[in-house]
Amino acid sequence: MDKFVIRGGRRLTGEVIISGAKNAAVAILPAVILSDEPCIIENVPSISDVTISLRILKEMGAEVTCVGHDAYRIDPTTIDKFCVPYETARKMRASYYFLGALLGKFHKARVSMPGGCPLGDRPIDQHLKAFCALGAQYTLSQGMVDLTADSLHGNQIFFDVVTVGATMNAMLAAVKAEGLTVIENAAKEPHIVDLANFLNSMGANIMGAGTDVIKIRGVEHLHGTTYSVIPDQIEAGTFMVAIAATKGDAIIKNVIPKHLESITKKLEKIGVNIEQYDDSVRVWVDGPLVKTNVKTAPHPGFPTDMQSQIATLLTLAEGTSIITENIWEQRFRYVDELRRMGADITVNGKVALIEGTGKLMGAPVKACDLRAGAALIIAGLAASGITEIEDIFHIERGYDCMEGKLRALGADIEKVSFPDKTEEQTETAEDDKNKAAS
Ligand code: EPU
Repeated sequence: MDKFVIRGGRRLTGEVIISGAKNAAVAILPAVILSDEPCIIENVPSISDVTISLRILKEMGAEVTCVGHDAYRIDPTTIDKFCVPYETARKMRASYYFLGALLGKFHKARVSMPGGCPLGDRPIDQHLKAFCALGAQYTLSQGMVDLTADSLHGNQIFFDVVTVGATMNAMLAAVKAEGLTVIENAAKEPHIVDLANFLNSMGANIMGAGTDVIKIRGVEHLHGTTYSVIPDQIEAGTFMVAIAATKGDAIIKNVIPKHLESITKKLEKIGVNIEQYDDSVRVWVDGPLVKTNVKTAPHPGFPTDMQSQIATLLTLAEGTSIITENIWEQRFRYVDELRRMGADITVNGKVALIEGTGKLMGAPVKACDLRAGAALIIAGLAASGITEIEDIFHIERGYDCMEGKLRALGADIEKVSFPDKTEEQTETAEDDKNKAAS
């Protein structure tokens, strides 16, 4: 088992380069299935969710070749299996994108149901509603979702909640369906637009991605393309907060500043200086950090995936801040760990009250999900003393070489292997790993 050991108290300075977006890559890689020719996908982050996506493609029969730094050539024309088994799907929640992609191309798919996860209940009712509207039937048995369709036809799909996953899955299933599909109450995240741009670069006809109405006119064939995944908005936001928490001064490169707007605005309210350039931002702190309130919301609101990181920063600010989590029921599980580091946070349902104490102390802690892990890294960087973070596999699912990038900014962080756990501890960790997914 690996853990991160951080000796806190060092200002982050210098430059860091942001990788491709996890939540775009985990949809674009399955989307290649829809193409009738090989595709090259560039700017793919080196994270374990991508490794699993590529493994699933290979297990289905696709030819996957690494063609340079963070780029893959994927030939989907050799795919002859239409199933994502439990053993693979349980490791990554986003394996549900294989449902939409396989259905869209082959009119059949068999994918293990995404299980419960550390963020709470994660239903897929809206995904299934979209598939049915397009003409598919589904059965759920023994934990598997089976989809079949004689043919797929365009239809109107109205989502009851704003959902990223179901919006992307509806796009994947509709892109080759006959006629016009109109998705209403669609999610507007940058990765929705990125998936639409990727599909359009293969010859799809998708309009309105990035607004709440997406129109898709089905096409018969999709051709090969070379496409570069957008930079990761959440990785960039995480580094912005880490720089602020250490009162540092650094430049974050390979970002789309527009995607960072809600994060930038909040950080400025807290007292962080931010200067935007074409594809980079400079972040620095030269005064006190002050309280603010944060409510998470679908894009363009403040992203839930940045909630734990900004909460950590607010423990270092003056005054009382309130955070309201509106997307996931169980996204305050990191709070117990931050308390071990001296944070004063009270949680009541979906609201957390943070009394800024201005300081944190190093402690042994455990990452309970991906963004919780990022928050603990930020806490460790800002804290006095040594912080040891366990269960870093959560962090490695979504951050590309986090410790290397932080070290280049001057952080004292290292990844160390620690002795095998007892059998019982190993089982618990395995259990956690299997539940981990986003
Ligand atoms: N929902 C339903 N029914 C559905 C689908 C979703 O009720 O069929 C509800 C969910 O329970 C939730 C809300 O709708 O309350 C939003 O869920 P959404 O479908 O948008 O989430 P997701 O697609 O499963 C993606 C990201 C998450 C991110 C959320 C919200 C991926 C692979 N995951 O999840 O990312 O938090 O959107 O932005 O894109 C992370 O990266 O750490 C992470 C958890």
